[in-house]
Amino acid sequence: MKRLENKTAIITGGSGSIGKITAAKFLKEGANVVLVDLRQEHLDEAKTELGHPDRVLTVQADVSSVEDTKNYVEKAKAKFGAVHILFANAGTEGKVQPITEFSDDVFDLVMKVNVKGVYLGIKHVVPALREAGGGSIVISSSVAGLEGSANTVAYTTSKHATVGLMRTAAQELAPYNIRVNTINPSPVDNRMMRSLEEGFSPGEAEEAKRNLERAIPMGRYAEPSEVADLVLFLASDESSFITGTTNPIDGGMTS
Ligand SMILES: NC(=O)c1ccc[n+]([C@@H]2O[C@H](COP(=O)([O-])OP(=O)(O)OC[C@H]3O[C@@H](n4cnc5c(N)ncnc54)[C@H](O)[C@@H]3O)[C@@H](O)[C@H]2O)c1
Repeated sequence: MKRLENKTAIITGGSGSIGKITAAKFLKEGANVVLVDLRQEHLDEAKTELGHPDRVLTVQADVSSVEDTKNYVEKAKAKFGAVHILFANAGTEGKVQPITEFSDDVFDLVMKVNVKGVYLGIKHVVPALREAGGGSIVISSSVAGLEGSANTVAYTTSKHATVGLMRTAAQELAPYNIRVNTINPSPVDNRMMRSLEEGFSPGEAEEAKRNLERAIPMGRYAEPSEVADLVLFLASDESSFITGTTNPIDGGMTS
């Protein structure tokens, strides 16, 4: 028996680095996946790359929009009949600036996507999970949801907020057999970190990467695939008594 046989998972940020590799692992374990992201052409590319077109649905959506959120849930139910898993993973890094110079517009955007997007996802997916008899919600927080990080006020605030959302939802939803947990990765070797490295040290991103790696006892970034393995565990019944938890995957960074 595969680990997600007969399950349907909605993955927001589904054409991004962590979202797409998680979708690949979910498909391998028998799930249907619904990829939600901003740009249809990126979703189309991801769908082609993933294979199994009969078990992949793509829905273009801005996760901070109520209408778009309702729409991706409806489309998932219409195509696959039920929803069992939400991986609330869409996120944006914002800018690297001290608080006193931080752009208010960027602050609002990061909070809208990283916090309101997760809140709306939980709000509108939960009725479907209840209809299915229960389920699992996994939220992409970060080590920045557990510790402060200078010059990333919007991102760090937003990732702390997702921990509050998770804890509240875990308590409210346990009676319905719905588990809610965050993953809290250290820097992951992908586009988002290239953008942040450039922000920390303009023109010297490689040096910024080496500095960050020095703060990680295991001396390297996480691979997207390692993060996806944790999501798979939390989404599957193997974690059936785990809810309300933060889950650092950080090479010892927060130890
Ligand atoms: N990369 C890292 O180092 C790292 C570390 C810890 C946590 N995370 C978190 O993991 C999650 C996935 O990030 P990633 O590393 O795969 O980066 P990524 O940029 O490859 O993926 C993020 C995805 O979210 C999508 N997205 C952004 N705004 C959206 C919106 N309004 N509506 C719908 N989709 C939207 C983007 O288009 C993108 O595909 C994010 O929440 C990120 O904050 C990343």
